[in-house]
Amino acid sequence: MSKIRMDKLLAHAGYGTRKEVKGLLKSKFVTLNGEIVTSDKLKVDLDHDQVMVNGEPVNYQEYVYYMLNKPVGYVSATMDNVYPTVIELIDDVHPDLFPVGRLDVDTRGLLLITNDGALGHRLTSPKHHVDKTYEVLCDGLLTEEDVQAFAKGIELDDFTCKSAKLEIIGKDHCYVTIQEGKFHQVKRMFLSVDKPVTFLKRVAMGPLKLDPALEEGQYRPLTAQEIDSLKSKSMV
Ligand code: URA
Repeated sequence: MSKIRMDKLLAHAGYGTRKEVKGLLKSKFVTLNGEIVTSDKLKVDLDHDQVMVNGEPVNYQEYVYYMLNKPVGYVSATMDNVYPTVIELIDDVHPDLFPVGRLDVDTRGLLLITNDGALGHRLTSPKHHVDKTYEVLCDGLLTEEDVQAFAKGIELDDFTCKSAKLEIIGKDHCYVTIQEGKFHQVKRMFLSVDKPVTFLKRVAMGPLKLDPALEEGQYRPLTAQEIDSLKSKSMV
C-alpha cells in the first residue's frame, strides 16, 4: 500500500505549490472519499482513496515512465549550465524525473525518462546486462573483420569491451548492440577500427524499441506491457 501526504499529492498532481494547495484545502475544495478534508498532513492511500478537487478526480500516479526520442542538442541530465536538458522536453508535474542512462549531446534516439529510481538503477547496473542497440553511420567501409573484432571484444585504452554484435546494413551503415554503457563507448569502439561515427541513434534498450511514430523531441508514456517487460528484464 502506498501512502502520500495530501499536500504532496495535490502539489505533484499540478494543483500548485504546497502553500497554494494548503489554501485550496482550507477553502474546502478538496474531498477524500466524498468527505471534505482540510488537513494538508493527511495521508492518502493511492490505491484505494478517491481525492477530488472541486468535484474533479485527482489522477496521480506515483511512478511515471516515458519513452523519449531524444533530439541532438539536449543533455541527458536533470540540470546543466550549457545545454537544455531532456527533462525540459517532458511536460509532467513529477519533480523527480530523470533519464535512465546517458546519451551524448549529439546522440539521438531512445531514452527512458522516469521517477522510478529502483528500476533506473537496475537497468543501468552492469550486473543486469541490458542490451542497447544503436543505429550507426560511420566514415569508412564496414567489413567482416569489423564484425569479428566487435564480437571478440574491442580493446580501448582503459578497458576491453564485452563482445558486441555488429550488423552491417550498408557500406557505412550498421546496427551495433552492446551491453555496457561506458563514456562515449560506441564512438570509441568505431574509432578503434578507424571509422569515426558520423551519426548515432539508440533504437532499443532491452525489450524496449524506439516507437517509429515518435518524431525527435516527442515522447509518450510506456504501455503497461512495456513497463512489465522492462521490470522483468531488470530483475534477471
Ligand atoms: N555510445 C556513445 O559513444 N555515445 C552515446 O551517446 C551512447 C553510446
